[in-house]
Amino acid sequence: MKVAVIGAAGGIGQALALLLKNNLPAGSDLALYDIAPVTPGVAVDLSHIPTPVTIKGYSGEDPTPALDGADVVLISAGVARKPGMDRSDLFNVNAGIVKSLAEKIADVCPKACVGIITNPVNTTVAIAADVLKAKGVYDKNKLFGVTTLDVIRSEAFIGELKGMDPREVSIPVVGGHSGVTILPLLSQVKGVTFSQEEVEALTPRIQNAGTEVVEAKAGGGSATLSMGQAACRFGLSLVRALQGESNVVECAYVEGDGQHARFFAQPVRLGKEGVDEILSIGELSAYEQQAMDKMLETLRKDIKMGEEFAAK
Ligand SMILES: NC(=O)c1ccc[n+]([C@@H]2O[C@H](COP(=O)([O-])OP(=O)(O)OC[C@H]3O[C@@H](n4cnc5c(N)ncnc54)[C@H](O)[C@@H]3O)[C@@H](O)[C@H]2O)c1
Repeated sequence: MKVAVIGAAGGIGQALALLLKNNLPAGSDLALYDIAPVTPGVAVDLSHIPTPVTIKGYSGEDPTPALDGADVVLISAGVARKPGMDRSDLFNVNAGIVKSLAEKIADVCPKACVGIITNPVNTTVAIAADVLKAKGVYDKNKLFGVTTLDVIRSEAFIGELKGMDPREVSIPVVGGHSGVTILPLLSQVKGVTFSQEEVEALTPRIQNAGTEVVEAKAGGGSATLSMGQAACRFGLSLVRALQGESNVVECAYVEGDGQHARFFAQPVRLGKEGVDEILSIGELSAYEQQAMDKMLETLRKDIKMGEEFAAK
């Protein structure tokens, strides 16, 4: 397996590269790319960690050598939030970056599974999809918006609230990846129940957890280390599924049957060709159903913005 991290010199990229260097299966290749000139050096640094994963770093204008032969491409290239910004404020810069990277992927590794971390994910995934489509190589089973951070935050906060080992918490988070479009399905957490008051406090905390980090970093960026962990979890799940492991399930923002919106985050079973099966989101509580009804307009608008950008 070859995994390419694009945006690899950034806060997320470096954390993700470190985790992948330590956790990818033996024999894997890890390729790092970033426009920042430090990137080959980041790879040299990581190459001194004694794991059976080879690593190479590339910088400059052309991501081709990193993408060449990649099975999985994880993209965190772009600018991150500062206090007072929401994810849509990043659109102007990041939309163009994702568009040009998707064009390169279409030319160099059209069969790769692509995970997009770059915000606003609700929109950048739609851009990538339509760029790949225009190039005639779009496979909706191979394009993912990485929403795993919403899942791990939910696990951490529930563990904290309920005095549970957070590694034993399992929760689907559905919808999209910003504000009200993030919907943790607390009613489906096994082994615990939440009072209405807890649901009404925990749901917005999970939805605004990114802002909690942005404010705490006070101008120094947004979540990088927890996001590196989340992207590593998603990337490793994808690699395991591509290598034939069965029953690998993660939540991700994918194009499904369009029941709620063209792209929607929900549990998916991963397989040798990417998404094997989109799983049902199950039964929602009245609170969750109301939140779902309220989010759809925002989510559809975010998606439309991406479609319009890609069509320009
Ligand atoms: N999906 C999520 O849950 C989630 C969570 C946190 C952050 N993010 C997003 O991830 C992105 C990266 O965040 P970060 O904190 O790592 O930012 P960062 O500024 O630390 O790193 C971004 C990196 O991208 C590089 N870059 C810019 N343009 C590039 C291009 N065309 N090709 C290759 N590399 C390029 C920069 O040189 C930089 O090293 C942001 O858009 C942020 O909003 C997503």
